[in-house]
Amino acid sequence: METIRIINAKDHVGEKVKLGAWVANKRSSGKIAFLQVRDGSAFFQAVVVKSKVSEETFDLAKNLNQETSIWITGEISQDDRSKFGYEIQVEDIEVISDSHDYPITPKDHGTDFLMDHRHLWLRSSKQHAIMLIRNEVIRATHEFYQDQGFIKLDSPILVGNAGENTTDLFQTEYFDQKAYLAQTGQLYAEAAALAFGKVYTLGPTFRAEKSKTRRHLIEFWMIEPEMAFVEHEESLKIQEEYVSHLINSVLDNCDYALEVLGRDKGKLRQFAQLPYPRISYDQAIEILQENDFDIEWGADFGSPEETFLASQYDRPIFITNYPKAIKAFYMKKHPDRSDVVICADMIAPEGYGEIIGGSQREDNLDKLLEEIENFGLGTEEYEWYLDLRRYGSVPHSGFGLGLERTVTWLAGIEHIREASPFPRLLNRIYP
Ligand code: 4AD
Repeated sequence: METIRIINAKDHVGEKVKLGAWVANKRSSGKIAFLQVRDGSAFFQAVVVKSKVSEETFDLAKNLNQETSIWITGEISQDDRSKFGYEIQVEDIEVISDSHDYPITPKDHGTDFLMDHRHLWLRSSKQHAIMLIRNEVIRATHEFYQDQGFIKLDSPILVGNAGENTTDLFQTEYFDQKAYLAQTGQLYAEAAALAFGKVYTLGPTFRAEKSKTRRHLIEFWMIEPEMAFVEHEESLKIQEEYVSHLINSVLDNCDYALEVLGRDKGKLRQFAQLPYPRISYDQAIEILQENDFDIEWGADFGSPEETFLASQYDRPIFITNYPKAIKAFYMKKHPDRSDVVICADMIAPEGYGEIIGGSQREDNLDKLLEEIENFGLGTEEYEWYLDLRRYGSVPHSGFGLGLERTVTWLAGIEHIREASPFPRLLNRIYP
């Protein structure tokens, strides 16, 4: 008899199999017990019919506690009424380890309670489905870049200089020196791009942002491609193709998770349509002013502004050429306008906000030096980064996609905290 995982049940219809699982929920009548079981790969129903099993097995099934681990043997059958499509007709059950008073019951719990029990909450079907989507986004990311000859290079987590700004840095001791947790892998990705041409990083980044919103994490993962000899327009094309690929991959490979989450697949299909509209920051300000937003040129967009702008379109949009003063020091100045930089943010539909920030990088040594000074950063710490402009500088562009923001959007969930297995939030580092 073969030991299988629930996700593969479709390949074993009519066969007698064995599987290890946990009891997620149960209901029973006098003659039949329905166990909702999970094994990490999926959830499905185990049907225990009194007349078909021993009295002992039926009693055991009826009295199983939530999260008790069990071995089940039985025959796989099709079940068109469930989201999953298959179930198991139980012949025997063996308890591996009992579970008593599992804290997360099928009733409603408050968010704080669930977050305190995140190590257990991850077992629930919704959280499980979100993590399947996260996994698919990571898989499809590697597929997209590896297929195009990008090299994955890992940037350091402990760094000696600020990557984005000096306001939300986590500082720590590094023997007798100061160090920070990386806000971005970008500067290192730039060094790597000048060594390998096309590269990407995928790793954790940290922002000591005191913002408690449904879009901000303290620790989040970023995918940061960086490309030598690539100007901004070409980078925008790669960005939209990448996001479209992520959507299509989730549609192709996460049907079960999308069903569990109740995500509208038609909408996702629409969001994968290319090209994505591009509007300039100037145009965005005009649109907002025409629609009674109290905003002046030079201000950054918050969630209401981004949500409104995105709602004017049926797919993600790019907002290009932001004012220099509200963007990072490394962005290349616009050749015709000294007040804006060559950059774009990609804004997701449905109020999910910015998922990508990207730009062409300043490749001129003197201009970059000037900006480092303008931003009040010490040039000494950036000597290595300036070397990239000293020895064969080339036009280059890159961007960062926030993994959890993207997963939040694709899964169609309310809050970014559920897109990370163990989210680090303001005032929360447990569990
Ligand atoms: O716009 P950001 O700050 O860009 C950078 O860090 C660049 N160095 C990237 C690059 O060009 N290589 O951040 C990029 C993305 C945002 O669009 C957002 O998706 C995500 O990272 N992000 C956050 N996600 C969750 N919580 C936070 N606090 C985030 N801050 C940024």
